[in-house]
Amino acid sequence: MTETLLSPTPSDDAGAPAKRLFIKTYGCQMNVYDSERMADVLRPLGYAATDTAEDADFVILNTCHIREKAAEKVYSELGKLRELKDARAKVSRTMTIAVAGCVAQAEGEEIMRRQPAVDLVVGPQAYHQLPELLARTARARGERIGADFAPNEKFDALPAARGVEGFTAFLTVQEGCDKFCTFCVVPYTRGAEWSRPVAAVLAEARDLASRGVREVTLLGQNVNAYDGEGPDGSPSNLAKLAYALAEIPGIDRIRYTTSHPNDMSDDLIAAHGALEALMPWLHLPVQSGSDRILRAMNRKHGRQKYLDLIDRIRAARPDIALSGDFIVGFPGETEADFEQTMDLVRRVTYASAFAFMYSPRPGTPAATMAGQVPEATARERLHVLQALLFEQQAAFNASRTGMTIPVLLEKPGRFGAQATGRSPWLQPVHVEDAAPLIGQIVPVRIESGGFKSLGGRLLQQKGV
Ligand code: SAH
Ligand code: SF4
Ligand code: F3S
Repeated sequence: MTETLLSPTPSDDAGAPAKRLFIKTYGCQMNVYDSERMADVLRPLGYAATDTAEDADFVILNTCHIREKAAEKVYSELGKLRELKDARAKVSRTMTIAVAGCVAQAEGEEIMRRQPAVDLVVGPQAYHQLPELLARTARARGERIGADFAPNEKFDALPAARGVEGFTAFLTVQEGCDKFCTFCVVPYTRGAEWSRPVAAVLAEARDLASRGVREVTLLGQNVNAYDGEGPDGSPSNLAKLAYALAEIPGIDRIRYTTSHPNDMSDDLIAAHGALEALMPWLHLPVQSGSDRILRAMNRKHGRQKYLDLIDRIRAARPDIALSGDFIVGFPGETEADFEQTMDLVRRVTYASAFAFMYSPRPGTPAATMAGQVPEATARERLHVLQALLFEQQAAFNASRTGMTIPVLLEKPGRFGAQATGRSPWLQPVHVEDAAPLIGQIVPVRIESGGFKSLGGRLLQQKGV
Protein backbone atom coordinates (compact mmCIF):
# COMPACT_ATOMS: atom_id res chain seq x y z
CA MET A 1 0.00 0.00 0.00
CA THR A 2 2.35 2.69 1.24
CA GLU A 3 5.37 1.18 -0.47
CA THR A 4 4.58 3.07 -3.65
CA LEU A 5 5.73 6.20 -1.89
CA LEU A 6 9.31 5.02 -1.95
CA SER A 7 11.19 4.97 -5.16
CA PRO A 8 13.32 3.73 -6.66
CA THR A 9 12.92 0.25 -5.22
CA PRO A 10 16.16 -1.74 -4.98
CA SER A 11 15.18 -3.92 -7.89
CA ASP A 12 15.16 -0.77 -10.08
CA ASP A 13 18.69 -0.15 -9.00
CA ALA A 14 20.46 -3.36 -9.92
CA GLY A 15 23.90 -3.67 -8.43
CA ALA A 16 23.25 -1.31 -5.53
CA PRO A 17 24.07 -2.92 -2.19
CA ALA A 18 21.10 -3.82 -0.01
CA LYS A 19 20.23 -1.21 2.54
CA ARG A 20 21.14 -2.40 5.98
CA LEU A 21 18.70 -2.49 8.85
CA PHE A 22 19.63 -2.86 12.50
CA ILE A 23 16.85 -3.33 15.05
CA LYS A 24 17.66 -3.37 18.75
CA THR A 25 14.89 -4.83 20.87
CA TYR A 26 14.16 -4.09 24.51
CA GLY A 27 11.33 -5.31 26.74
CA CYS A 28 8.86 -8.14 26.40
CA GLN A 29 8.24 -10.87 23.82
CA MET A 30 5.69 -8.69 22.09
CA ASN A 31 8.49 -6.33 21.20
CA VAL A 32 10.47 -9.28 19.82
CA TYR A 33 7.46 -10.12 17.64
CA ASP A 34 7.04 -6.49 16.60
CA SER A 35 10.73 -6.26 15.64
CA GLU A 36 10.37 -9.29 13.38
CA ARG A 37 7.30 -7.73 11.80
CA MET A 38 9.11 -4.41 11.26
CA ALA A 39 11.81 -6.33 9.40
CA ASP A 40 9.04 -7.99 7.33
CA VAL A 41 7.57 -4.59 6.44
CA LEU A 42 10.96 -3.20 5.42
CA ARG A 43 12.24 -6.22 3.51
CA PRO A 44 10.31 -5.35 0.30
CA LEU A 45 12.07 -1.97 0.37
CA GLY A 46 15.42 -3.68 0.14
CA TYR A 47 16.38 -3.62 3.80
CA ALA A 48 18.39 -6.61 4.95
CA ALA A 49 19.21 -7.24 8.60
CA THR A 50 22.66 -6.53 9.99
CA ASP A 51 24.05 -7.31 13.43
CA THR A 52 25.57 -3.98 14.34
CA ALA A 53 24.53 -0.35 14.29
CA GLU A 54 27.94 0.60 12.86
CA ASP A 55 27.19 -0.50 9.32
CA ALA A 56 23.43 0.13 9.32
CA ASP A 57 21.62 2.62 7.10
CA PHE A 58 18.53 2.41 9.23
CA VAL A 59 18.58 1.82 12.98
CA ILE A 60 15.42 1.14 14.95
CA LEU A 61 15.37 1.02 18.73
CA ASN A 62 12.28 -0.94 19.73
CA THR A 63 11.88 0.28 23.27
CA CYS A 64 10.31 -0.64 26.60
CA HIS A 65 8.84 1.79 29.12
CA ILE A 66 8.00 -0.60 31.92
CA ARG A 67 10.63 0.52 34.44
CA GLU A 68 12.68 3.70 34.60
CA LYS A 69 15.93 1.87 33.83
CA ALA A 70 14.44 0.37 30.67
CA ALA A 71 13.44 3.80 29.39
CA GLU A 72 16.73 5.48 30.33
CA LYS A 73 18.74 2.87 28.43
CA VAL A 74 17.17 4.23 25.26
CA TYR A 75 18.61 7.69 25.78
CA SER A 76 22.13 6.42 26.40
CA GLU A 77 21.90 4.22 23.31
CA LEU A 78 20.68 7.20 21.29
CA GLY A 79 23.72 9.19 22.44
CA LYS A 80 25.99 6.49 20.97
CA LEU A 81 23.98 6.37 17.74
CA ARG A 82 24.26 10.10 17.35
CA GLU A 83 28.06 9.79 17.27
CA LEU A 84 27.82 7.11 14.59
CA LYS A 85 25.45 9.23 12.59
CA ASP A 86 27.73 12.28 12.83
CA ALA A 87 30.73 10.22 11.74
CA ARG A 88 28.80 9.00 8.69
CA ALA A 89 27.68 12.50 7.81
CA LYS A 90 31.35 13.50 7.55
CA VAL A 91 31.79 10.99 4.71
CA SER A 92 28.50 12.10 3.11
CA ARG A 93 26.51 9.07 4.15
CA THR A 94 23.26 9.06 6.06
CA MET A 95 21.93 7.02 8.90
CA THR A 96 18.24 7.12 9.74
CA ILE A 97 17.37 6.60 13.39
CA ALA A 98 13.91 5.57 14.54
CA VAL A 99 12.54 5.00 18.02
CA ALA A 100 9.69 2.49 18.12
CA GLY A 101 7.83 0.68 20.87
CA CYS A 102 6.50 1.78 24.23
CA VAL A 103 8.88 4.67 24.99
CA ALA A 104 7.97 6.07 21.58
CA GLN A 105 4.31 5.84 22.50
CA ALA A 106 4.73 7.29 25.99
CA GLU A 107 7.18 10.10 25.37
CA GLY A 108 7.56 10.69 21.64
CA GLU A 109 7.88 14.46 21.85
CA GLU A 110 10.38 14.21 24.69
CA ILE A 111 12.57 11.88 22.59
CA MET A 112 12.67 14.32 19.69
CA ARG A 113 13.50 17.14 22.09
CA ARG A 114 16.20 15.29 24.03
CA GLN A 115 17.88 13.70 21.03
CA PRO A 116 17.65 15.63 17.76
CA ALA A 117 19.52 12.85 15.95
CA VAL A 118 16.26 10.85 16.01
CA ASP A 119 14.53 11.03 12.64
CA LEU A 120 11.27 9.39 13.46
CA VAL A 121 9.23 8.09 16.32
CA VAL A 122 6.71 5.34 15.75
CA GLY A 123 4.33 3.86 18.31
CA PRO A 124 3.47 0.14 18.60
CA GLN A 125 0.28 0.50 16.55
CA ALA A 126 1.86 2.39 13.65
CA TYR A 127 4.92 0.45 12.53
CA HIS A 128 3.12 -0.87 9.44
CA GLN A 129 3.52 2.72 8.24
CA LEU A 130 7.32 2.60 8.39
CA PRO A 131 7.72 2.69 4.58
CA GLU A 132 5.70 5.87 4.35
CA LEU A 133 7.43 7.39 7.34
CA LEU A 134 10.82 6.64 5.89
CA ALA A 135 9.86 8.28 2.65
CA ARG A 136 8.65 11.36 4.44
CA THR A 137 11.79 11.44 6.56
CA ALA A 138 13.90 11.45 3.48
CA ARG A 139 12.09 14.63 2.46
CA ALA A 140 11.92 16.39 5.76
CA ARG A 141 14.11 15.31 8.63
CA GLY A 142 12.45 15.31 12.01
CA GLU A 143 9.04 14.07 10.97
CA ARG A 144 7.12 12.68 13.90
CA ILE A 145 3.91 10.76 13.75
CA GLY A 146 1.19 10.13 16.22
CA ALA A 147 0.33 6.63 17.23
CA ASP A 148 -3.40 6.82 17.65
CA PHE A 149 -4.25 3.79 15.60
CA ALA A 150 -6.21 0.70 16.43
CA PRO A 151 -4.20 -2.55 16.29
CA ASN A 152 -6.46 -3.99 13.56
CA GLU A 153 -5.22 -1.38 11.07
CA LYS A 154 -1.69 -2.51 11.73
CA PHE A 155 -2.40 -6.22 11.41
CA ASP A 156 -4.40 -5.70 8.21
CA ALA A 157 -1.49 -3.80 6.67
CA LEU A 158 1.32 -6.21 7.60
CA PRO A 159 2.67 -8.57 4.92
CA ALA A 160 0.93 -11.94 5.05
CA ALA A 161 4.14 -13.96 5.02
CA ARG A 162 6.68 -13.84 7.78
CA GLY A 163 10.43 -14.06 7.46
CA VAL A 164 10.84 -16.49 10.34
CA GLU A 165 13.74 -18.87 10.61
CA GLY A 166 13.73 -21.80 12.96
CA PHE A 167 11.18 -24.04 14.57
CA THR A 168 9.60 -21.79 17.18
CA ALA A 169 7.83 -18.49 16.68
CA PHE A 170 5.93 -15.82 18.55
CA LEU A 171 2.45 -14.96 17.34
CA THR A 172 0.63 -11.90 18.69
CA VAL A 173 -3.06 -12.66 19.25
CA GLN A 174 -4.05 -9.98 21.74
CA GLU A 175 -2.76 -6.55 22.57
CA GLY A 176 -3.34 -3.91 25.19
CA CYS A 177 -4.66 -3.92 28.70
CA ASP A 178 -7.79 -2.69 30.49
CA LYS A 179 -6.65 -3.71 33.97
CA PHE A 180 -4.90 -0.52 35.08
CA CYS A 181 -2.69 -1.93 37.82
CA THR A 182 -1.61 1.21 39.62
CA PHE A 183 2.13 0.69 38.95
CA CYS A 184 1.97 -0.12 35.24
CA VAL A 185 2.36 1.87 32.01
CA VAL A 186 1.11 -0.82 29.64
CA PRO A 187 -2.56 0.36 29.48
CA TYR A 188 -1.18 3.74 28.40
CA THR A 189 1.47 2.54 25.95
CA ARG A 190 -0.41 -0.35 24.34
CA GLY A 191 -3.96 0.93 24.60
CA ALA A 192 -7.19 -0.97 25.23
CA GLU A 193 -7.51 -4.78 25.17
CA TRP A 194 -8.03 -5.95 21.61
CA SER A 195 -7.94 -9.45 20.09
CA ARG A 196 -7.21 -10.49 16.54
CA PRO A 197 -9.93 -12.53 14.79
CA VAL A 198 -9.49 -16.31 14.98
CA ALA A 199 -9.23 -16.56 11.17
CA ALA A 200 -6.31 -14.10 11.07
CA VAL A 201 -4.45 -15.96 13.82
CA LEU A 202 -5.00 -19.33 12.13
CA ALA A 203 -3.83 -17.95 8.77
CA GLU A 204 -0.61 -16.67 10.33
CA ALA A 205 -0.08 -19.97 12.15
CA ARG A 206 -0.58 -21.93 8.92
CA ASP A 207 2.00 -19.74 7.23
CA LEU A 208 4.41 -20.35 10.12
CA ALA A 209 3.79 -24.11 9.95
CA SER A 210 4.48 -24.08 6.20
CA ARG A 211 7.87 -22.53 7.00
CA GLY A 212 8.72 -25.32 9.41
CA VAL A 213 7.59 -23.81 12.71
CA ARG A 214 6.48 -26.48 15.19
CA GLU A 215 5.98 -24.48 18.35
CA VAL A 216 4.06 -21.20 18.61
CA THR A 217 3.93 -18.93 21.62
CA LEU A 218 0.78 -16.84 21.55
CA LEU A 219 1.45 -13.35 22.79
CA GLY A 220 -0.68 -10.76 24.49
CA GLN A 221 -0.33 -8.36 27.39
CA ASN A 222 -3.34 -10.25 28.76
CA VAL A 223 -3.35 -13.16 26.41
CA ASN A 224 -5.88 -15.21 28.36
CA ALA A 225 -8.41 -12.37 27.96
CA TYR A 226 -8.33 -13.27 24.25
CA ASP A 227 -11.83 -12.87 22.75
CA GLY A 228 -11.18 -12.56 19.03
CA GLU A 229 -14.06 -12.97 16.61
CA GLY A 230 -14.72 -16.65 15.96
CA PRO A 231 -15.88 -18.34 12.74
CA ASP A 232 -19.56 -17.74 13.58
CA GLY A 233 -19.00 -14.05 14.28
CA SER A 234 -19.25 -14.34 18.06
CA PRO A 235 -16.28 -13.89 20.43
CA SER A 236 -14.04 -16.91 20.82
CA ASN A 237 -11.68 -17.61 23.73
CA LEU A 238 -8.10 -18.75 24.23
CA ALA A 239 -9.01 -22.39 24.91
CA LYS A 240 -10.97 -22.63 21.64
CA LEU A 241 -8.13 -20.89 19.81
CA ALA A 242 -5.62 -23.38 21.21
CA TYR A 243 -7.76 -26.33 20.07
CA ALA A 244 -8.05 -24.83 16.57
CA LEU A 245 -4.30 -24.19 16.38
CA ALA A 246 -3.53 -27.74 17.46
CA GLU A 247 -5.46 -28.96 14.38
CA ILE A 248 -2.93 -27.32 12.03
CA PRO A 249 -0.58 -29.98 10.70
CA GLY A 250 2.94 -29.22 11.91
CA ILE A 251 1.93 -27.19 14.97
CA ASP A 252 2.80 -29.58 17.77
CA ARG A 253 3.37 -27.24 20.66
CA ILE A 254 1.45 -24.23 21.90
CA ARG A 255 2.32 -21.82 24.68
CA TYR A 256 0.86 -18.46 25.63
CA THR A 257 2.02 -15.50 27.65
CA THR A 258 1.31 -13.30 29.66
CA SER A 259 -1.79 -14.25 31.58
CA HIS A 260 -3.76 -12.46 34.26
CA PRO A 261 -5.17 -14.54 37.14
CA ASN A 262 -8.66 -13.07 36.68
CA ASP A 263 -8.85 -14.24 33.07
CA MET A 264 -7.90 -17.87 33.76
CA SER A 265 -11.21 -19.41 32.64
CA ASP A 266 -12.46 -22.92 33.48
CA ASP A 267 -12.24 -23.75 29.75
CA LEU A 268 -8.58 -22.83 29.63
CA ILE A 269 -7.76 -24.75 32.80
CA ALA A 270 -9.56 -27.80 31.39
CA ALA A 271 -7.64 -27.45 28.12
CA HIS A 272 -4.41 -27.83 30.08
CA GLY A 273 -5.60 -31.25 31.15
CA ALA A 274 -6.96 -32.34 27.77
CA LEU A 275 -5.00 -30.76 24.94
CA GLU A 276 -1.68 -32.47 24.42
CA ALA A 277 -0.22 -29.66 22.32
CA LEU A 278 -0.72 -27.16 25.13
CA MET A 279 2.62 -27.21 26.92
CA PRO A 280 2.66 -27.68 30.71
CA TRP A 281 4.03 -24.22 31.35
CA LEU A 282 2.20 -21.13 32.59
CA HIS A 283 3.42 -17.62 33.32
CA LEU A 284 0.84 -16.29 35.77
CA PRO A 285 2.11 -13.17 37.56
CA VAL A 286 0.70 -12.39 41.00
CA GLN A 287 2.98 -9.40 41.87
CA SER A 288 2.53 -9.65 45.65
CA GLY A 289 1.39 -12.11 48.29
CA SER A 290 -0.20 -9.46 50.49
CA ASP A 291 -3.90 -8.65 50.14
CA ARG A 292 -3.31 -5.10 51.30
CA ILE A 293 -0.71 -4.51 48.58
CA LEU A 294 -2.73 -6.35 45.94
CA ARG A 295 -5.59 -3.95 46.68
CA ALA A 296 -3.31 -0.92 46.43
CA MET A 297 -2.01 -2.33 43.15
CA ASN A 298 -5.62 -2.61 41.85
CA ARG A 299 -4.97 -6.22 40.91
CA LYS A 300 -8.64 -7.13 41.52
CA HIS A 301 -7.71 -10.52 42.97
CA GLY A 302 -6.62 -11.55 46.44
CA ARG A 303 -3.97 -13.91 47.69
CA GLN A 304 -6.35 -16.79 48.43
CA LYS A 305 -8.02 -16.54 45.04
CA TYR A 306 -4.62 -16.90 43.39
CA LEU A 307 -3.65 -19.87 45.57
CA ASP A 308 -6.99 -21.59 44.85
CA LEU A 309 -6.49 -20.96 41.15
CA ILE A 310 -3.06 -22.59 41.26
CA ASP A 311 -4.62 -25.64 42.99
CA ARG A 312 -7.21 -25.94 40.23
CA ILE A 313 -4.61 -25.62 37.48
CA ARG A 314 -2.43 -28.25 39.14
CA ALA A 315 -5.40 -30.55 39.52
CA ALA A 316 -5.96 -30.33 35.74
CA ARG A 317 -2.28 -30.68 34.83
CA PRO A 318 -0.18 -31.94 37.75
CA ASP A 319 3.19 -31.53 36.02
CA ILE A 320 2.64 -27.90 35.03
CA ALA A 321 5.59 -25.56 35.56
CA LEU A 322 4.58 -22.21 37.00
CA SER A 323 6.25 -18.93 36.39
CA GLY A 324 5.44 -15.47 37.71
CA ASP A 325 6.36 -11.84 38.23
CA PHE A 326 6.80 -10.07 41.57
CA ILE A 327 7.24 -6.47 42.55
CA VAL A 328 8.95 -5.65 45.85
CA GLY A 329 8.98 -2.23 47.47
CA PHE A 330 5.56 -1.16 46.21
CA PRO A 331 4.47 2.00 48.10
CA GLY A 332 3.33 1.11 51.60
CA GLU A 333 4.86 -2.40 51.57
CA THR A 334 5.85 -3.37 55.11
CA GLU A 335 8.07 -6.24 56.29
CA ALA A 336 4.86 -8.16 57.09
CA ASP A 337 3.54 -7.62 53.53
CA PHE A 338 6.84 -8.78 52.09
CA GLU A 339 6.75 -11.85 54.34
CA GLN A 340 3.34 -12.66 52.82
CA THR A 341 4.96 -12.63 49.37
CA MET A 342 7.72 -14.96 50.58
CA ASP A 343 5.09 -17.24 52.09
CA LEU A 344 3.08 -17.33 48.87
CA VAL A 345 6.21 -18.23 46.88
CA ARG A 346 6.95 -21.07 49.33
CA ARG A 347 3.40 -22.37 48.94
CA VAL A 348 3.25 -22.20 45.16
CA THR A 349 6.86 -23.14 44.28
CA TYR A 350 7.79 -21.71 40.91
CA ALA A 351 9.86 -23.30 38.16
CA SER A 352 11.11 -19.85 37.21
CA ALA A 353 10.02 -16.34 38.08
CA PHE A 354 11.03 -12.71 37.86
CA ALA A 355 11.27 -10.27 40.73
CA PHE A 356 11.52 -6.53 40.20
CA MET A 357 12.09 -3.57 42.43
CA TYR A 358 9.17 -1.18 42.19
CA SER A 359 9.95 1.65 39.77
CA PRO A 360 7.67 4.69 39.93
CA ARG A 361 6.38 5.51 36.44
CA PRO A 362 5.23 9.04 35.70
CA GLY A 363 1.50 9.23 35.12
CA THR A 364 0.62 6.04 37.00
CA PRO A 365 -1.35 6.30 40.27
CA ALA A 366 1.26 4.49 42.40
CA ALA A 367 3.97 7.01 41.52
CA THR A 368 2.38 9.59 43.80
CA MET A 369 1.17 7.24 46.56
CA ALA A 370 2.28 7.83 50.12
CA GLY A 371 4.76 5.45 51.71
CA GLN A 372 7.35 5.13 48.92
CA VAL A 373 9.80 2.48 50.14
CA PRO A 374 13.48 3.49 50.46
CA GLU A 375 15.58 1.97 47.70
CA ALA A 376 17.92 0.18 50.12
CA THR A 377 14.97 -1.61 51.75
CA ALA A 378 13.50 -2.59 48.40
CA ARG A 379 16.89 -3.83 47.18
CA GLU A 380 17.32 -5.97 50.29
CA ARG A 381 13.86 -7.53 49.77
CA LEU A 382 14.64 -8.12 46.11
CA HIS A 383 17.75 -10.10 47.04
CA VAL A 384 15.90 -12.18 49.62
CA LEU A 385 13.07 -13.00 47.20
CA GLN A 386 15.41 -13.71 44.30
CA ALA A 387 17.43 -16.12 46.44
CA LEU A 388 14.27 -18.12 47.15
CA LEU A 389 13.17 -18.06 43.50
CA PHE A 390 16.63 -19.17 42.33
CA GLU A 391 16.56 -22.01 44.83
CA GLN A 392 13.16 -23.14 43.54
CA GLN A 393 14.30 -22.94 39.92
CA ALA A 394 17.41 -24.99 40.64
CA ALA A 395 15.34 -27.59 42.51
CA PHE A 396 12.81 -27.81 39.67
CA ASN A 397 15.53 -28.34 37.08
CA ALA A 398 17.39 -30.87 39.23
CA SER A 399 14.15 -32.83 39.64
CA ARG A 400 14.06 -33.48 35.86
CA THR A 401 17.15 -35.70 36.15
CA GLY A 402 16.33 -39.29 35.27
CA MET A 403 13.15 -38.37 33.35
CA THR A 404 12.66 -39.07 29.65
CA ILE A 405 11.09 -36.02 28.07
CA PRO A 406 10.18 -34.78 24.58
CA VAL A 407 12.57 -32.09 23.38
CA LEU A 408 12.08 -29.90 20.31
CA LEU A 409 15.60 -29.63 18.91
CA GLU A 410 16.11 -26.09 17.64
CA LYS A 411 19.76 -25.47 16.82
CA PRO A 412 23.30 -26.84 17.02
CA GLY A 413 24.76 -26.96 20.52
CA ARG A 414 28.11 -25.68 21.59
CA PHE A 415 30.07 -28.92 21.60
CA GLY A 416 30.53 -31.54 18.89
CA ALA A 417 27.30 -32.95 17.52
CA GLN A 418 25.24 -31.53 20.38
CA ALA A 419 21.86 -29.98 19.63
CA THR A 420 19.98 -27.55 21.84
CA GLY A 421 16.24 -27.53 22.24
CA ARG A 422 13.47 -26.86 24.72
CA SER A 423 11.77 -29.07 27.24
CA PRO A 424 7.98 -28.96 27.66
CA TRP A 425 8.71 -26.66 30.65
CA LEU A 426 10.74 -24.27 28.52
CA GLN A 427 14.20 -24.98 29.88
CA PRO A 428 16.97 -25.19 27.27
CA VAL A 429 18.14 -28.80 26.89
CA HIS A 430 21.56 -29.72 25.50
CA VAL A 431 21.36 -33.12 23.82
CA GLU A 432 24.45 -35.15 22.89
CA ASP A 433 24.87 -36.45 19.33
CA ALA A 434 21.54 -35.04 18.19
CA ALA A 435 22.58 -32.45 15.59
CA PRO A 436 21.19 -34.43 12.61
CA LEU A 437 17.75 -34.39 14.24
CA ILE A 438 17.34 -30.63 14.51
CA GLY A 439 13.73 -29.65 13.83
CA GLN A 440 12.32 -32.82 15.37
CA ILE A 441 10.73 -33.55 18.72
CA VAL A 442 12.72 -36.42 20.22
CA PRO A 443 12.68 -38.35 23.50
CA VAL A 444 15.62 -37.35 25.65
CA ARG A 445 16.86 -38.93 28.84
CA ILE A 446 17.84 -36.13 31.22
CA GLU A 447 21.17 -36.68 32.95
CA SER A 448 21.81 -33.28 34.50
CA GLY A 449 19.70 -30.38 35.62
CA GLY A 450 21.58 -27.14 36.23
CA PHE A 451 20.21 -23.76 37.21
CA LYS A 452 19.76 -22.54 33.64
CA SER A 453 19.54 -25.66 31.51
CA LEU A 454 19.24 -29.43 31.32
CA GLY A 455 21.55 -31.94 29.68
CA GLY A 456 20.85 -35.40 28.30
CA ARG A 457 21.03 -37.85 25.46
CA LEU A 458 18.66 -39.41 22.94
CA LEU A 459 16.65 -42.26 24.36
CA GLN A 460 17.80 -44.65 21.61
CA GLN A 461 21.37 -44.13 22.79
CA LYS A 462 20.67 -45.32 26.30
CA GLY A 463 23.50 -47.52 27.42
CA VAL A 464 25.67 -46.71 24.38
N1 SAH B 1 0.57 -8.20 31.70
C1 SAH B 1 1.42 -8.78 32.63
C2 SAH B 1 2.72 -8.09 32.86
C3 SAH B 1 3.19 -6.93 32.04
S1 SAH B 1 4.59 -6.06 32.57
C4 SAH B 1 0.67 -8.93 33.95
O1 SAH B 1 -0.41 -8.44 34.11
O2 SAH B 1 1.16 -9.50 34.86
C5 SAH B 1 5.74 -7.27 33.10
C6 SAH B 1 6.08 -7.18 34.54
O3 SAH B 1 6.81 -6.01 34.83
C7 SAH B 1 4.89 -7.11 35.46
O4 SAH B 1 4.34 -8.36 35.69
C8 SAH B 1 5.47 -6.49 36.70
O5 SAH B 1 5.94 -7.48 37.58
C9 SAH B 1 6.62 -5.67 36.18
N2 SAH B 1 6.34 -4.24 36.30
C10 SAH B 1 5.40 -3.54 35.66
N3 SAH B 1 5.43 -2.25 36.05
C11 SAH B 1 6.42 -2.14 36.97
C12 SAH B 1 6.92 -1.06 37.75
N4 SAH B 1 6.41 0.17 37.67
N5 SAH B 1 7.95 -1.32 38.58
C13 SAH B 1 8.47 -2.56 38.67
N6 SAH B 1 8.03 -3.60 37.98
C14 SAH B 1 7.01 -3.40 37.13
FE1 SF4 C 1 0.23 -3.94 33.51
FE2 SF4 C 1 -1.54 -4.91 35.18
FE3 SF4 C 1 -2.13 -4.71 32.61
FE4 SF4 C 1 -0.35 -6.49 33.43
S1 SF4 C 1 -2.53 -6.45 33.97
S2 SF4 C 1 -0.15 -5.14 31.69
S3 SF4 C 1 0.66 -5.46 35.09
S4 SF4 C 1 -1.79 -3.04 34.01
FE1 F3S D 1 7.84 -2.95 27.84
FE2 F3S D 1 5.89 -2.18 26.29
FE3 F3S D 1 6.42 -4.74 26.59
S1 F3S D 1 6.46 -1.26 28.20
S2 F3S D 1 7.17 -4.83 28.68
S3 F3S D 1 7.74 -3.28 25.67
S4 F3S D 1 4.42 -3.83 26.40
